[in-house]
Amino acid sequence: MSLAARFAEAYGHPPAGVWAAPGRVNLIGEHTDYNDGFVLPLALDRRTLVGAEIAEGVTTVRSSREPDAVVFEADTVVPGEVTGWAAYVAGVVWAFRAAGLPVADLDLLVEGDVPVGAGLSSSASLECAVAVALAELTGTALDLTEVAHLARRAENEFVGAPTGGMDQMAAMHGVADRLVFLDTRTEHVELIPFALARHGLRLLVIDTRAPHQLVDGQYGARRADCAKAAELLGVPALRDATAADVETLTDERLRRRARHVVTEDDRVLGVVERLRAGKDPRAIGPLLSASHTSMREDFEITVPHVDVAAAVAEEAGAHGARMTGGGFGGCVIALVDTEAGDRVADAVAAAYAERGWDAPVVFDAVAADGAGRA
Ligand code: GLA
Repeated sequence: MSLAARFAEAYGHPPAGVWAAPGRVNLIGEHTDYNDGFVLPLALDRRTLVGAEIAEGVTTVRSSREPDAVVFEADTVVPGEVTGWAAYVAGVVWAFRAAGLPVADLDLLVEGDVPVGAGLSSSASLECAVAVALAELTGTALDLTEVAHLARRAENEFVGAPTGGMDQMAAMHGVADRLVFLDTRTEHVELIPFALARHGLRLLVIDTRAPHQLVDGQYGARRADCAKAAELLGVPALRDATAADVETLTDERLRRRARHVVTEDDRVLGVVERLRAGKDPRAIGPLLSASHTSMREDFEITVPHVDVAAAVAEEAGAHGARMTGGGFGGCVIALVDTEAGDRVADAVAAAYAERGWDAPVVFDAVAADGAGRA
């Protein structure tokens, strides 16, 4: 049954439309977005879909993944009132209102195939799908970046997750066969060609299904370390520090945190340069692997499941591999020759089995379009 049919069954009338927004993988540029730095994500071909229609007096949200509907009123909902998965929906409605934009009560049905809790930004995809639906249903014209801002505001101020802006920008600006090169300071977006199949390559996503550990506190702690390091260096953000500056920090932990950010920005620029020149993408492999090492040694956001996946993927022939996303679990990406993909996936699965870990889930990252009508 289609989403529209399920919507009609749940609400007794058809939706006005179905909107969608993708999850993302970040090719490189981790924990740089809240340091005014550079990121290079792609929008995935896995999406969150939202069927929606204007309703009278109350907003009702249903999800194919959740047993119960959640209700709130668009005109009055405030942070803290809706929690859990539906907070991402209510947060968007609140963000529109907080920005002085019109809102409306809606009937909503959510479904999708972005893995939840895997570091692939299922939450940003839900926010962006709701935002494009609400904008269209209220007749509000917004550009892609404006929608991303509203979605991020929902995440930061309503849900209370202190994230940067990469995920929502990727969900909005993504284009098939392109990477989204984003300067998070200026918010300038450049689309970089990324047609891997033409070069006989695949980008594997290895969902390690590692239990997330201490995620909330750790993300905020890394942000605080970065802010402190920038303050000590007397720069507005770590984006403005050089590798030499960083080595002057006397606090050992802050020095390593800042080193990760500064070297990661350089690696993003290095990857962009290599891909822009239309060269063989295999050339970016060492930069991907160096990013992983930096996250493991200096930023300390990896866990054994992701370290093993990245190391085994390389041993089995990947050109480069790294954890993608916020860290402490989630997914590893591996750049592999087309014919080596299955061998790499099997090697990681075997390494997990040896350790008595649950099998990883492996799929191809295919760069797809950003949010819009489904
Ligand atoms: C999460 C956040 C992003 C970004 C990444 C790390 O996905 O939502 O803003 O900080 O972690 O690169």
